[in-house]
Amino acid sequence: MTNEQYYELIRPYEDAMQVMLTRLSILNHSIYARDAGKPVHHMQNRIKDKRSMEGKLERIGVTDSVINAKDNLMDIAGVRVICYFQEEIYTLVEALKRQADVIVIKEKDYMKNPKPSGYRSYHIVFGVPVHALDAMEYYPVEVQFRTLSMDFWSSMEHKICYKKERENKEEISKQLQALSNSLTMIEEEMREYIQKS
Ligand code: GTP
Ligand code: MG
Repeated sequence: MTNEQYYELIRPYEDAMQVMLTRLSILNHSIYARDAGKPVHHMQNRIKDKRSMEGKLERIGVTDSVINAKDNLMDIAGVRVICYFQEEIYTLVEALKRQADVIVIKEKDYMKNPKPSGYRSYHIVFGVPVHALDAMEYYPVEVQFRTLSMDFWSSMEHKICYKKERENKEEISKQLQALSNSLTMIEEEMREYIQKS
């Protein structure tokens, strides 16, 4: 893939990502009553860079081309939504699903079914319509919903596991799973305080 091809490829993904960000921020300020507070703590977004696109295509065993990237990569456009609590995540997901013009391409609930690593999150790939002059096409935007505690765990785990090979990998992995469970309990306890107040 040339640089020119890459920049041309990502343009509609940028557009789709901006649409998704706008819809999320509208939901954030309208979904709950004013005194209930906003559900979103913060959002992040990114377009997959050329090198990691090429790396992923190589890992899945297809040649590096625009058409293969479009067909195989559902996370070229990525949004991460960090909420306070799990219930808000389900509310936001349901509200987005009700929007008539977006479609659901892929969905994985790692909150109900955490990964063996201890990873928790709600992943959903929406197809977002991008209208050009005389045509419409859906572009995938991967949205990862996490609570603050899930995001904290993921960021730390990434830092710990990304580093060079370790001898006591299994031990670390067990401890990380246990920490993930502890954080879930801490989050639940803090939620109870808020409900009581
Ligand atoms: P990918 O090829 O990795 O995109 O696989 P997939 O399509 O099966 O997606 P998956 O649902 O596994 O989510 C992939 C993304 O979720 C990664 O890019 C990470 O951002 C995040 N993720 C998944 N598992 C873990 C994990 O164990 N630890 C951390 N820190 N992040 C994870
Ligand atoms: Mg990915």
